[in-house]
This record gives sequence, C-alpha cells and structure tokens, in this order.
Amino acid sequence: MSDVTVIVLAAGGGTRMRSKTMKMLHRVAGRSMLGHVLAAVEVCGPDRVVAVVGHQREQVEAHLAEIRPEALLAVQETQEGTGHAVRVALDAMADAGHVPTGPVLVALGDTPLLRGESLRVFLEEHRSSGHVLSILSGLLDDPSGYGRVVRAGDGTVEAIVEEKEATAEQRTLREINSGILVFSPEFLLDVVPRIGNDNAKGEYYLTDAVALAREAGLSVGAHPVADPAETQGVNDRAQLAEAGRVMNARILDGWMRRGVTVMDPATTWVEDDVVLEPDATLLPGVQLLGATHVAEDAVVGPDCTLEDCEVGAGARVARAHAQLAVIGPRAQVGPFAYLRPGSTVSEAGKVGTFVETKNSTIGPGAKVPHLSYVGDADIGEGTNIGAGTIVANYDGVAKHRTVVGAHVRTGSNNTFVAPVTIADGAGTGAGTTVREDVPPGALAVSAGPQRTIEGWAERRRPGTKQAEAARAARPDGADGAS
Ligand code: UD1
Ligand code: CA
Repeated sequence: MSDVTVIVLAAGGGTRMRSKTMKMLHRVAGRSMLGHVLAAVEVCGPDRVVAVVGHQREQVEAHLAEIRPEALLAVQETQEGTGHAVRVALDAMADAGHVPTGPVLVALGDTPLLRGESLRVFLEEHRSSGHVLSILSGLLDDPSGYGRVVRAGDGTVEAIVEEKEATAEQRTLREINSGILVFSPEFLLDVVPRIGNDNAKGEYYLTDAVALAREAGLSVGAHPVADPAETQGVNDRAQLAEAGRVMNARILDGWMRRGVTVMDPATTWVEDDVVLEPDATLLPGVQLLGATHVAEDAVVGPDCTLEDCEVGAGARVARAHAQLAVIGPRAQVGPFAYLRPGSTVSEAGKVGTFVETKNSTIGPGAKVPHLSYVGDADIGEGTNIGAGTIVANYDGVAKHRTVVGAHVRTGSNNTFVAPVTIADGAGTGAGTTVREDVPPGALAVSAGPQRTIEGWAERRRPGTKQAEAARAARPDGADGAS
C-alpha cells in the first residue's frame, strides 16, 4: 500500500445517456465504467479510495458494495460541480478520520479507457516534479467539450479554462484536461474551500485550482498521456459504443500478443475477465463473456456466444450459444447447439446439431449428435443417443433426473420420461418411449409391432401419383389393390 488517496467522482447526472441505469454503471467489455476506473487506480496501491456519489446513488452504492466494499462513500446531495464534489469527499475523509499524507489523485468515473500504467507514470512524474498540482492532459485533434490547458510563453501551466469560459483563441488550444488531477495534500486542503462558482455554469470548478495555485506563486505541471484515446470521456451511447470498440481492440491485441489466433478482430468480442491460452483460435463472430476460459488448441467459432464457460484443450465449438457450461478437452459442440447452465460435455464428448442441454452431463466420449433435448440427465461414457431424442424431465409440476449408463445405444426418436434409468450396455429401439427402468444389457422397445396393409395406396388413393408410383414399382405392373 502507498500513501496515495484516490477520489473518484461519480455523482453526476449523465442525462445524455437517456437511461434508467446510472451512466457509470453502463458496461464496457463486461465491466462498468466505474469498475474500469477503480481497476486502473489500483496500480497506485491507494491507501484509501473515496467515491463521491449522488445522482442515482442507490444504484452506485449497491454496485460499489459489490466491487469495492472498502471504498469510503461521500454523498454529494446536489451536483454543484467537480470542485464541490471534492469538497464533499474531503468532508467525508475528515469524518472518517482519514488524513491524506501523500498525493491525492482525483479521477472521473466516466473515463473507462484510462490505463493503470498511465496513472502510475503520471504519479511518478508528479512526485519527482515538486508541483503542488499535476494535470493528466491529452493532445487532441478535436478538443471540443474539454477544458483546455493554458500555458505561458515559456510553457508554464497557467490555468485550465472550461470550454464555456474559453475565448475563441483559447478554444483553438489542443491540450485538454483529461479530468485526472493529482494534488499535494496540503495544497488540496487549502485550495478547495477557496474555489468559487462565479462562472458560466454557476458551478464550483475543480479546475480553477490551477489558476489559484499560480496566483499563490505555486507551480503546476501538465503531462500529456501517450495515447489520447485513454482520456475519452463517455457521455452518450455513441461514445459508449466507441469506448467498447477501443477496449475490445485493446483486449484482443493483448491476447494476440500472448499467442491467441483471432481471425477477425472486428467481429470478435472478448470481455475483460475472459482468459485465453496460447494457441486457442477464435473464428469470426465470437463473443466470449464473463469468466469464460478457453484452453490451448481449442477452436471457437464461427458465430458463438459463450458466457461463463470453460472450454477444454483441443475442443471444437461452432455456432453455439452456451452459458455456465463446461466443454471438456477435445469435445465437440455444434454447429447450432444451445448449452444452458449446468451442462457438462466431458472429454471427447459431443453435443451436435440442433441439440439443447441443461443441467446435464454428457460422459467422456458420449454423443448426442442430432436434434435432441437433454435436461436434468446424466449420460454415461461412450453412450450414443439417437437422433431426435427428448428427455421429458418436467411432469408439469416438478423436474426429475434421467440416468443413462455407459456404452448405451438408444434408437432415434426416443422419449425418456423422467425419472428413469437406462443401465450400462442397454439399448432402445427407434421410437421408444422409455417410462420404466431398463436393466443392464436389455433392449427396450415400446412401439407396437408394425401393421402393413398391402395395396392401400391404389385402393384408397386411386388415380393419384402415389397410386401410379406404387403400380410402376411392381415388377409385373400388377395392381396391388386386386
Ligand atoms: C470535466 C472538467 C474538464 C475536463 C473534462 C474531462 C471540470 C470543471 N471540468 O468537464 O476540464 O476536460 O471533465 O472529461 O472539472 N461530478 C460530480 N459532481 C458534480 C459534478 C460532476 O461527481 O457536481 C462528476 C461527474 O459524475 C463526472 C465528473 O465529475 O464523473 C466530471 O463531470 P462532468 O460534468 O462530466 O465534467 P465535464 O464537463 O466533462
Ligand atoms: Ca464528462
């Protein structure tokens, strides 16, 4: 732990999102914007993190309780500007008996692209500079909307001017305030109460601290971040999508550097908590969400959505939708499969085409190749389930389990009416409805003997193509009806 205190501002309204969800709780690559900022500031090893909440604060507080329960909450009842927000944070710190002894970093909750590494470098520059205040700045081609960093002829930082207050000449300045500022603790405690609200918005601008420092003859630094994309604030849904795209590209780039093949980064989406092993391959149209893990030599795609899934080494998953499922090593899933929560496809097992599974285990090497529903079932090693099998797990009131043993061969178009057990080495005929347990090695056949009515087509459908075809098929052309 270091001597750094972090204040994260998360009280603003975010009206341009037009959302019932608080702006900073919107997700970028599976994590809230606020969560990204809190993750980035972790590199400073902060002694204390203070979050200023206000607008839709019930939502923000609930989220913080989940992701940073140790954060100190400061409630800003009315949003009177960033300077006011920091004053509220300082009050909360005083109430909690937290006296900052080292640099105080102020971050905004709506800059999800900021990298921890950039913050670490910025803090180091601040510490070695002796400035009372440092600005993480950015050089933008289009600086509109941001506060501009104003420097004197010799490069000394003189002020941050908010866009609304800026002169036409100041608006041409390309160096912007990212909103990330770091203060020496003495200066911060001294300056915040002195910030006024005599400006275009009638708000207390934290950025006025720069001019106040200069008036007192204190020095301020501004350090442009290497990649200005990091300073992008998100105020509306278009910027949210753009931040998502940038974050995704960054995540994919990281995995490609670590040996993962991504055939089409433009259509591949991998969330922040996903883990991929070298020599995994992602084909176009893949979304990997939540805590998904893909092992080496596995090939996922095209067109898969996997959420909180485990994919084993060498597995092959094509056109599948899966949630909370385990796909074992060398297993095959899809094309066109739906694995619902609690599904396990064991090593070298198969869940094939138009197959849905739920809360079920497909044993090692076992196969459910075609057109089936497997719910609340355990299927043993080496078993083959016939095409078109339905496990009737629900009797309208309760769910029941079905157990199919090892090396079983079931016929096509079966229904297993749960609870039922088909023991090891057993089999079933085509069209069987299994209502009673089948002992080891037995063959269960429930369909009655077939009845064949000769000459039916010509008698009952005379003059049709069906009848003609039947007559033509007889070697002697005899009329089957007579
Ligand atoms: C702010 C900066 C601007 C900078 C820009 C970077 C000020 C006065 N301006 O402008 O120089 O270029 O960020 O994106 O600081 N907030 C509160 N309480 C408030 C007001 C704001 O918690 O009373 C929070 C907001 O939730 C947000 C952050 O502070 O996280 C910034 O506020 P916002 O109103 O978005 O400031 P900008 O106009 O973007
Ligand atoms: Ca903003």
